Amino acid sequence: MAGNEQILKAKFNDYVQSLETYIMFQIKAKQLALTEELTKKNRKPIALSMGAPVDMVPMFAVDTLKNVLDDPSIHTYSTPKGETYFLEAVARRMKKRFGVELDPKKEVYSLIGSKEGIANLIRELINPVVDEKERDIIMCPNPGYASYKEMVKVSGGLFWGVPLLEENNYQPDLEAELTKILNAGYKKEKIKALIINYPNNPLGVTCDFDYMQKCVDFCLKNNIILISDNAYAEIYFDENDKPRSILECKGAKDIAVEFHSFSKPYAMTGWRMGFVCGNETIVSMLGKLKSTIDTGIFKALQLTGAKLLDSKEGDEYINEANKKFKHKIQKFVDGLNSLGYSVKMPKASFYLWVKIPPRYNGDSKKFADDLLEKSGIVIVPGEAFGDLGKGYVRMSITASESSLDEVIERMKADGHNF
Ligand SMILES: Cc1ncc(COP(=O)(O)O)c(C=O)c1O
Repeated sequence: MAGNEQILKAKFNDYVQSLETYIMFQIKAKQLALTEELTKKNRKPIALSMGAPVDMVPMFAVDTLKNVLDDPSIHTYSTPKGETYFLEAVARRMKKRFGVELDPKKEVYSLIGSKEGIANLIRELINPVVDEKERDIIMCPNPGYASYKEMVKVSGGLFWGVPLLEENNYQPDLEAELTKILNAGYKKEKIKALIINYPNNPLGVTCDFDYMQKCVDFCLKNNIILISDNAYAEIYFDENDKPRSILECKGAKDIAVEFHSFSKPYAMTGWRMGFVCGNETIVSMLGKLKSTIDTGIFKALQLTGAKLLDSKEGDEYINEANKKFKHKIQKFVDGLNSLGYSVKMPKASFYLWVKIPPRYNGDSKKFADDLLEKSGIVIVPGEAFGDLGKGYVRMSITASESSLDEVIERMKADGHNF
């Protein structure tokens, strides 16, 4: 059997052979393996690992979905691009929320979750080659969403981490980064895209609008596609400082696309719904690939999603969810700081980026293992998001308030102070 396994694995391409199971699923497997033992010692696992809100989805969506299921025509294949009602609702939403004008026929495309869209676009930009210096480059945030690196790797590209650090206010100098790439011996024309992600997972930081414009200008000047991952656009805590869209910037539609998701704002992670919008050519090139490999989102979900985007119930849900997040996160930040940590309230998203105690000498994996094994607290080591995550962990504050209180109690009782 083992021999057979080796022969079969060898059939897969070099990149896939080195691919690890997605970090969140590795952590989940470890959590499950320890659940019985931890429960016995009154430390049943509390997950602060996945970026998945646990609240019920909007009842408006559930009721709408139930009502549309009786229509026989709703169960047939949909168009991969998205049904007209969905695309038009997206365009209305982008106009209402960001003041961005979109042609729903050409500048919007439905996605089976934003992750799918980003992965397929990356795959389309990269020519798979083996020679390292010939690889196509995708500039990605470091620390950044753990999937980017694997998406680039599996497509045969070169992941270039752009450092997001406190000292550059998490808004790196892109021209300086370009110089570093050229000095490392890579050719400029190999740089295919820059991914930005504000609000950022895992840092919880946003960026100034001026910086967004700088990103657009940089990409226009250097002919680099700009990919804005705006999955967390609707998770914010200051009504007067809401996350913006890259498409609000001058010239953005000439070079950029933006990815949006239903997963985070409406807690609909299992519905697998998102959309891409912006530059017509990029949207249509992604569409061509998608039309050959998937057949779109279930029409009932699209119709429900469209109604939700247009509804006051959807907006009320987002407002309520943000109020709850703000309250829970602030309380949790205070709890951690009472244990000696120095954590700041994020401006947006539900993530906390926490510096680990000095006694761990930067070993975030050990800290995360200790929290899980001793106290049943499930978190993600910073390195999962890039090498610059060393010395930090990410806590996702999506659990219930009582579970979060319990986490602080356990940290206090089990000696996990800073
Ligand atoms: C930065 C970022 N982008 C994209 C996604 C994918 O979201 P979905 O595929 O559920 O739309 C996530 C999920 O955690 C994320 O954190």
